[in-house]
Amino acid sequence: MKICTSIAEARAASRQIRAERKRLGLVPTMGALHAGHLSLVRAAKARCAAVVVSIFVNPTQFGPKEDFAKYPRPFESDCAVLEKEGADMIFAPTADEMYAKGEITWVTVEGPSEKLDGRSRPGHFRGVTTVVAKLFHGIEPEVAFFGQKDAAQLAVIRRMVRDLNFPVEIVSCPIVREPDGLAMSSRNAYLSPKERCSALVLNRSLQEVEKAFRGGERDARALVQSGRAVLAQEPEVRLDYFEIVDPETLDPLAAASGKSLVAVAAYVGSTRLIDNVVLESRG
Ligand code: PAF
Repeated sequence: MKICTSIAEARAASRQIRAERKRLGLVPTMGALHAGHLSLVRAAKARCAAVVVSIFVNPTQFGPKEDFAKYPRPFESDCAVLEKEGADMIFAPTADEMYAKGEITWVTVEGPSEKLDGRSRPGHFRGVTTVVAKLFHGIEPEVAFFGQKDAAQLAVIRRMVRDLNFPVEIVSCPIVREPDGLAMSSRNAYLSPKERCSALVLNRSLQEVEKAFRGGERDARALVQSGRAVLAQEPEVRLDYFEIVDPETLDPLAAASGKSLVAVAAYVGSTRLIDNVVLESRG
């Protein structure tokens, strides 16, 4: 497994792979890999002859009061895990490599970038789309893999790819959960045992919405209310948002018809967690 730290080296290596007519898949990550990331690597291996995993804790997607400094960076163990999974290359640049001094160019998807997490984390999606665009230019993958857990991120990236005509297929992979239902996240490592227990309420609240939906409720306000009522049972959990939106535009829906994204974000102690479920009406 090759480890590249410069864009030039990574681009040369990925061009070499494609010159061998191998379909190239990219799994962009910030490291601290868990089973959710590994499901992306496995999906990439199933569809592509060669898989590149990027590991880069991207400073521009963190707000000034967020956890950039303390974000876990277990680089050695991430490499060992990826070697075992059969990744062909890791791209692990420094911040100076990715961002030239005085850089003033951004990729912004207007609209969706200000919704859900974008509303609570101003500038977050601008940082995500800028770094993902840089990764696409650097690695030139044919396919890129993202987790459905970051549903808003996925919508924003799909829109960027569409609007800027990136020749990259975006594949989303299902949320991977712990046996007790907690969605896998690198930030789960911040939770104390008590907080981890409280955090289960996110998934429980989504299940309640799903139950109401299966029972025939379609009114978005009523569905949201059923989920919020469950969350309110955990005083340790502070709600950021609970919304039912169109999965592509992230616009709020009045009724859950067709495909509807139910998305929740909440603070458990000082840790911000997100989770979601997609409701689908038949017919
Ligand atoms: O989902 C993530 O881990 C990050 O937002 C991404 C896509 C790697 C960009 O930094």
